[in-house]
Amino acid sequence: MKNKVKIAVFASGNGSNFQAIADAVKAGSLDAEIVLVVTDRPNAYVIERARQANIPSFAFIPADYDSKKSYEEMLKGKLESLQVDWIVLAGFMRLIGPALLEAYENRIVNIHPSVLPAFPGKDAIGQTMAARAESAGVTIHFVDAGMDTGNIIVQESFKVNGRSREAVENEIHAIEHKLYPVALQRLFNLNNMH
Ligand code: GAR
Repeated sequence: MKNKVKIAVFASGNGSNFQAIADAVKAGSLDAEIVLVVTDRPNAYVIERARQANIPSFAFIPADYDSKKSYEEMLKGKLESLQVDWIVLAGFMRLIGPALLEAYENRIVNIHPSVLPAFPGKDAIGQTMAARAESAGVTIHFVDAGMDTGNIIVQESFKVNGRSREAVENEIHAIEHKLYPVALQRLFNLNNMH
C-alpha cells in the first residue's frame, strides 16, 4: 500500500478552506495527511484552527528575512524534512518564488475566488462586484511564477443576479469548501496512478 500523500497548507487568514480540507481528511473523504500549516501572519486565525485539529503549525514573519529567497529556502528545508509531497495554498496572500516553485514543480495548488483569467490578484470578489460581472466563481489551479496564471484544474461559477457582495461571498466560500477537498482527492489519485 502506498503511503498517504503528505500536504502542507499555506494560509494567511481565517483558514476556512484549511478547515474544509482538515474536515475532509478526518471524515476519510480526502486520503491525505496534513503535516503542517504554514502562515506568514502569526495572528492568523488559521493557527487556532490547526491547534484545535491537532495539526502542527509554523508561523514566520517575512520581514524578518532578507528576501523571499531566504524565507522560501527556510520553508523548503522544513517541508523537505517533513517529506511534504504537495503544497496547498488556501488564502495564502503571497506570490510563490523560484525556490519553492523549483522544489515543488507542478505540486503547488491554489484556490482563487474568481473565474480566472478574470479578476486575478487581490480582492477578487471586490473586483467582481466593482465590474458588475454577470458571474462570479472559484478556480483551483496549479501555481506558476505568475499571479494566478497557472494551469486550471477546475472552476465553478454562478450568476450574480444582483446579489449583494455578502451573498456572493458566502456562495463563493460554500463552493470553495466543497470543491477544494474533492479537487485535491482527484489530483492525488491521478498522481498515484503512475
Ligand atoms: C478564499 O476565498 C480564497 O479563495 C482566497 O482567500 C480566501 C481565504 O479564505 N484566496 C485568494 O484570494 C488568493 N489570491 P479562508 O482563509 O477562510 O480559507
